[in-house]
Amino acid sequence: MNFREELLKIDRSIYYYDVLGSTNDQARILAEEGACDGSLVLADAQDSGKGRMGRSFFSPAGSGIWMTLILKPDILPEKASMLTLVAAVAVQKTMVDFGISSGIKWPNDIVVAGKKVTGILTEMRAEPDHVDYVIVGIGINVNMTKFPEKLESLATSMAQVRGQMFDRAQIVKRFLEYFDEYYQTFVREGNLGFLQETYNQHLIHRNKQIYVHEIRRVWPGISLGINSTGELLVRTNEGDVELRSGEVSIRGVYGYME
Ligand code: BTN
Repeated sequence: MNFREELLKIDRSIYYYDVLGSTNDQARILAEEGACDGSLVLADAQDSGKGRMGRSFFSPAGSGIWMTLILKPDILPEKASMLTLVAAVAVQKTMVDFGISSGIKWPNDIVVAGKKVTGILTEMRAEPDHVDYVIVGIGINVNMTKFPEKLESLATSMAQVRGQMFDRAQIVKRFLEYFDEYYQTFVREGNLGFLQETYNQHLIHRNKQIYVHEIRRVWPGISLGINSTGELLVRTNEGDVELRSGEVSIRGVYGYME
């Protein structure tokens, strides 16, 4: 059975396409047209996959999972970025179930053997006091055996790590099981307290030195782990600082696992 047929057997609102520009862009259109909370948009290939900070995301046909969840949670807009961390833990757990011991680079990269295996891009539309929708785009490198030269030192796939091919639909199913459970708890509790320890256990740079990149300066610190709202606590000579995702990036951490 092919990817599409297996996906469409999942009991969920799923929009499948052979090729899209970006599943995030399509998800936005579907969300505006009234797609329900939890709908999933998937494409076998993306020809303009989007990464964070305006970067492109390599998304060839037949080898990865390029998917976007459409979420319409009853939460305040300032809480929406925490959904990225919820998705990161769901992906990390899924990978472990498929024999891959991956880690998380705050806030939302999944890293194996020092290279990125999954990226997450969250976008939303909101009013000051109300979320219209959040779209959580997830790109998992599953069965690629080769990357373009410029990505070779940065990206890897589950197949490269394990030396075997994986059934992409089974991975999607397992991910949804984890995500749905965590999502329900998150919406009920309104914070990440229930997931904080799990997230921190898998943080590749926990208690390690990192470099925090701001627009005008770079400074070192020891990353301690996230708090219950997803900020990264960093210890510096002048005291502890809480970093909000989206405002800064951290570097100097790939390769920590191994
Ligand atoms: C990053 O690591 O910079 C984020 C990458 C996010 C990629 C996924 S693939 C599915 C969804 N559609 C996109 O265009 N981007 C996200």
